[in-house]
Amino acid sequence: MSTSEQGWVQIVGIGPGDEALVTPQVQAALAEATDAVGYIPYVERVAANPNLTLHPSDNRVEIDRSRHALEMASEGKRVVVVSSGDPGVFAMAAAVFEAVEHGEAAWRDLDIRVLPGITAMLAASAACGAPLGHDFCAINLSDNLKPWELIDKRLRLAAEADFAMAFYNPRSKSRPEGFEKALKTLKDACGDNRPMIFARNVSRPDQTIKIVPLQDTTPDMADMRTVVLLGSSQTRIITRDGAPIVYTPRSVAG
Ligand SMILES: C[S@@+](CC[C@H](N)C(=O)[O-])C[C@H]1O[C@@H](n2cnc3c(N)ncnc32)[C@H](O)[C@@H]1O
Repeated sequence: MSTSEQGWVQIVGIGPGDEALVTPQVQAALAEATDAVGYIPYVERVAANPNLTLHPSDNRVEIDRSRHALEMASEGKRVVVVSSGDPGVFAMAAAVFEAVEHGEAAWRDLDIRVLPGITAMLAASAACGAPLGHDFCAINLSDNLKPWELIDKRLRLAAEADFAMAFYNPRSKSRPEGFEKALKTLKDACGDNRPMIFARNVSRPDQTIKIVPLQDTTPDMADMRTVVLLGSSQTRIITRDGAPIVYTPRSVAG
């Protein structure tokens, strides 16, 4: 990507919530920016700054928001596009590049950078041990942008391959039945009682971590503020006084 003294776009991840988990690189971008665009609750997390104009927008307008950011950068503004967690994980980085690919030719010459952040599944994994300590996959359970049949297929194949799994966007008011179907598929495909971890508001003052045997899980255990982790068949629980530790060993016997 080219560099320029003119406008730029930096697509930044502000982590799962705790200010201590915002990288110094992202803090520097926020300090230099003239404009910030993003989903309302994420833009609200950006500290007030008299030199920074905030452009909060509603959910599901990612491409419009991306085009707005690219237009402002073309006019010489220094624009941050704000995502929670990491901007490359079910977030704005891919949306901005989709807008670049299908947008004005001049946008390809803009200085566009992606600044990583700590994604929810890694913060959740750290909060309970190391359940993603061996091979794992991440699946977005929302069927807003893909058919449910594809989600179901990926769940079955991930279980067959014995991946640990991380599930984003597990359950919302507009999609109450999806997580119920996902649990049914997983209980059937895994067939055992490996631990499922419901990590809600990770790294925030009201963080909760619940570890539940897969066959005992119920759909109401997750909402849109929850990232759900599922161990592989190898995942272990170390009991002790206080919270147990969940981990997946680094090796699998041949
Ligand atoms: C649109 S995705 C954005 C993911 C984000 N880019 C990331 O890397 O974490 C939103 C989903 O991320 C998960 N999530 C984000 N922040 C979270 C947090 N602090 N605690 C638990 N889950 C979180 C939830 O599953 C939520 O429904």
